[in-house]
Amino acid sequence: MPASKMPAWGWKQPHNLRGPLRATPPAHRCSSKVLGGAYPFLAETGDILTGAYIGENLLSRAPFCFDPWDAYSAEAVRSHSVAILGVKGTGKSMLAKSWSSRLARLGRKVAVPHDPNGEWVRVAAYVGGTSISVGPGKAARINLLDEGPRDLSFSDEDWNQNVLQYRRATVKTIIRRLREGGNLEPVEHTALDVALDALRGQSTVTITHVYSRLVDPDEALPVEVADAGHRLAHSLRRMVSGDLTGFFDGPSTVRFDADAPMMVVDTSALKGASPEAQALARLATANWIRRSSLGANRQARVIIHEEAAVELLNDVSGGDGLADRVEDEKVARHLGTSNWYLLHRVADLDALGDRNSALHSRALGLLADCETRISYAQHSGEIARSREILGWNDTQADLVRKLHKGEGLWQIGQDRVAKVRNICTDYELGIFRTDAMGGERA
Ligand SMILES: Nc1ncnc2c1ncn2[C@@H]1O[C@H](COP(=O)(O)OP(=O)(O)OP(=O)(O)O)[C@@H](O)[C@H]1O
Ligand SMILES: [Mg+2]
Repeated sequence: MPASKMPAWGWKQPHNLRGPLRATPPAHRCSSKVLGGAYPFLAETGDILTGAYIGENLLSRAPFCFDPWDAYSAEAVRSHSVAILGVKGTGKSMLAKSWSSRLARLGRKVAVPHDPNGEWVRVAAYVGGTSISVGPGKAARINLLDEGPRDLSFSDEDWNQNVLQYRRATVKTIIRRLREGGNLEPVEHTALDVALDALRGQSTVTITHVYSRLVDPDEALPVEVADAGHRLAHSLRRMVSGDLTGFFDGPSTVRFDADAPMMVVDTSALKGASPEAQALARLATANWIRRSSLGANRQARVIIHEEAAVELLNDVSGGDGLADRVEDEKVARHLGTSNWYLLHRVADLDALGDRNSALHSRALGLLADCETRISYAQHSGEIARSREILGWNDTQADLVRKLHKGEGLWQIGQDRVAKVRNICTDYELGIFRTDAMGGERA
């Protein structure tokens, strides 16, 4: 109704409480912080956390910054880990790239152990970091059994034990993977221990050395242990002379550059390789980065598990990969590592083991350990499950339903929520965008 048509005293109708509106309250201006006090739980306080600029908080219209370590120091979160969930093409990688490269400019270190699309190579170059390409036709080799930088807090004996333990665990994981989940027999454990122990004095130990040792053990070894060693060697053969040869079985030809702002392992050359080769590549590169960033190289470092986060967890049948990860998560806080997991949907974690199984609860526990959870747009069918797991209320679920590309709902610790639009400059977009690389990816 046009205002001009309304009589000054309002419409003449029964019970209409006719009378002129004389009250003209003065307009009141205040900051969103004051408003947050006046209307608690309704208005965003706009309290700005410190860290790298990410974009605009659409709830308060304030700039939004975040740094996992600062948030931890400010007691906003109890872990440094981050989960980024959302369907394909919603901007997860864009967020990870812009956020991590800005953190890198502020002095944090970043590592991407497994970049299956080669989309991080340009990002590494952009921040002055390095990238390594592995796979068929690439010169770089990563030794799965590299001992990594010496941790000076260890005595010689403790360090030897630590390296031995690492190598034992890695070889067992490889064998289990190559046996499609088949476990080692007790006598095989012994054979492996004997072989690794014999190689102790060597400065470089590779899978090829372990293989040769298993094939050709000491004469004095009991026959059943030697036989078990041969069985292990048969399982390992594919690594040294089968279809998986040449990637991870020799000495490393590349060095982990602990001082580079960003370190990327580009595994795009393995795209067409067998699932075993891909799984081993993930295992090798993730382990190598983890091992290399310990000891003297220990510092605040973001480790981004791109795209393959769920595969990484599921690599070893029986979920050993996941168990390792959960374990890793426990120590991450002390090591100063911030793991970022990029996932498509919560249901991917549900697919890891039956409901109520130990594996399944471990997978969800890992998500619960991530105190910073960022939800990008999700399929409407997924919202109910995400809501259950991520604890959204009606408003938050509704908000996720309406998110646009590049916008996410941030849940930070127990009680902070923000809706953030990730803002990138045109120059950054040119470097970070993936759709120019050949449209929708499989
Ligand atoms: N914040 C943003 N600003 C502008 N464009 C964006 C933004 N986020 C995403 N895009 C556009 O969307 C495209 C896809 O984004 P991105 O590669 O980050 O998706 P994704 O969620 O990682 O998808 P996938 O699961 O397939 O890896 C980008 O190439 C870019 O063009
Ligand atoms: Mg992506």
